[in-house]
Amino acid sequence: MNLEPKILDSISTGVLVLDSDLRVCSLNAAGQAILDTSEARCLGEDAKNLLLHPEQWLGILTQVLESDSPHASRSVALMLLSGQEIHVDVIVTPHHRSDGETGLLVELLAVDRLLRISRDGNLQHAQETSRAIIRGLAHEIKNPLGGVRGAAQLLARELPDEHLAEYTGIIIREADRLRDLVDRLLGPNRQLELKPLNIHEVLEHVRNLISAESENRVTIIRDYDPSLPEFPCDRAQLIQAVLNITRNALQAAPSLADCKITLRTRSQRQFTVGTKLHRLVCRVDIIDNGPGIPEELQHSVFAPMVTGRAEGTGLGLSIAQSSVQLHGGAIECESSPGETRFTIFLPMEQTHA
Ligand SMILES: Nc1ncnc2c1ncn2[C@@H]1O[C@H](COP(=O)(O)OP(=O)(O)OP(=O)(O)O)[C@@H](O)[C@H]1O
Ligand SMILES: [Mg+2]
Repeated sequence: MNLEPKILDSISTGVLVLDSDLRVCSLNAAGQAILDTSEARCLGEDAKNLLLHPEQWLGILTQVLESDSPHASRSVALMLLSGQEIHVDVIVTPHHRSDGETGLLVELLAVDRLLRISRDGNLQHAQETSRAIIRGLAHEIKNPLGGVRGAAQLLARELPDEHLAEYTGIIIREADRLRDLVDRLLGPNRQLELKPLNIHEVLEHVRNLISAESENRVTIIRDYDPSLPEFPCDRAQLIQAVLNITRNALQAAPSLADCKITLRTRSQRQFTVGTKLHRLVCRVDIIDNGPGIPEELQHSVFAPMVTGRAEGTGLGLSIAQSSVQLHGGAIECESSPGETRFTIFLPMEQTHA
């Protein structure tokens, strides 16, 4: 590999290069962290000596070497030499070296439970079921609600005494409030309007809205990858999704002056959503330095009506997730006090269709 080692050391994916005898040629910094070893300790070492029970791992490596075709496995359990079990996504690609030998390029991506939460196929299925229930219930609420509102309007016109209009006004306002809530519960209900779009246009729009909402008091850091190509997406829905996530960061901040939000874009190769492996996805990170998602909510923040705020409806993230899923993408979240990161992954393959 002719890549500058420093570049490989600055990425978060573990990169392990093996020769044709499955001996370690190099291991970047992320790889050393994931496998809990150092390059000095494992250079020249047989790949099977990196782990305690290497059977599955060796099986994958030899299969790629023999078939000479790449392989991706989700959430492989590996037992480190320390006895600790880790879960990683493993992508192994044959690497034809200049000396004529075929080695292997192994990419390792650590996945913890929370990170995988919205990518998990089963979870997506459960969410679809709960959305179907909500849709049915919403329909049952909206129909009679329309009747109640209409009747209150008629009644308002017939009232003998004007001060009674205060009561019909309350009925109408509350019916409207309930209708809006049900509409939000239903989430994005129209078909996607896909148009080629630069993702930064979406982010800049949200940045302007958030700056205005906070009267320019929050610091918004832009870390964009300008080489990202345009790809088909629904502008309005993506703005809503990013806005919901960013607004949460704003609302969680104890003081706007200390609130720092980073909007970051990158392209990422080989990313799995459900059971589909995407060749290229656009990755948008929205990171804040706030207090973090309360521990008890961490596993359910994407579910509708889950809120940690007294005045929250708990729908912002659920709506964001629906929109992103309609785009064939996924949202993941990682949170601890001082750093909360929401990551949106959007497949970009359509560009090449
Ligand atoms: N960046 C964040 N930092 C801290 N907590 C967060 C963050 N994002 C979300 N949360 C927590 O997750 C909960 C759910 O968020 P969600 O956007 O779905 O609903 P909400 O903000 O409560 O209500 P709504 O968005 O419908 O007005 C929030 O109430 C908050 O407790
Ligand atoms: Mg919200």
